[in-house]
Amino acid sequence: MALYTETVMDHFTHPRNVGEIPDADGVGEVGNAKCGDIMKMYLKIKDDRIEDVKFETFGCGSAIASSSMATELIKGKTIEEALAVTNKQVVDALGGLPAYKLHCSVLAEESIKAAVKNYYDRNNIPYDHSKFPD
Ligand code: FES
Ligand code: FES
Repeated sequence: MALYTETVMDHFTHPRNVGEIPDADGVGEVGNAKCGDIMKMYLKIKDDRIEDVKFETFGCGSAIASSSMATELIKGKTIEEALAVTNKQVVDALGGLPAYKLHCSVLAEESIKAAVKNYYDRNNIPYDHSKFPD
C-alpha cells in the first residue's frame, strides 16, 4: 500500500487556502518541538463565522496536507463548529496518515484553536482556558 493516500498527495501538491490574511481577526501559530515544523493559521471572522481562512506551514508534506484540509473543514463554519474539528477528522478527511505522521494533523487542530483563542483575546471575549492549548 502506498504510504500516502491520493487525497494527501493532492493537498500536499495543491494546498488550498495557502497564504496570509494581513487583516486577520485571529492568528494562531503552533509548532512541534520534536520535528521543528511550524503552522500558522489566519482567520477572518464575521458574525461568529469563519469567513475566510488561510495558512502558512513550514513543515513536512503531511503537515501541509493537514493544514490545507483543516482550512477546508472550517471555512464558512461557525467558531463553535471550527473548534469541534479534531485531528482525527482531519486524518479521516485525508483518507488516513501513517501512524508516525499523526502528530502533523494534531498541529492542524491546535492551530485552529490557537487562532480562535487569539481572536477571543483580541476582543476580550471570555473562554474556557482549559479547552485550548497553551
Ligand atoms: Fe522534517 Fe517535519 S520532520 S519536515
Ligand atoms: Fe512534524 Fe509533520 S513531521 S509536522
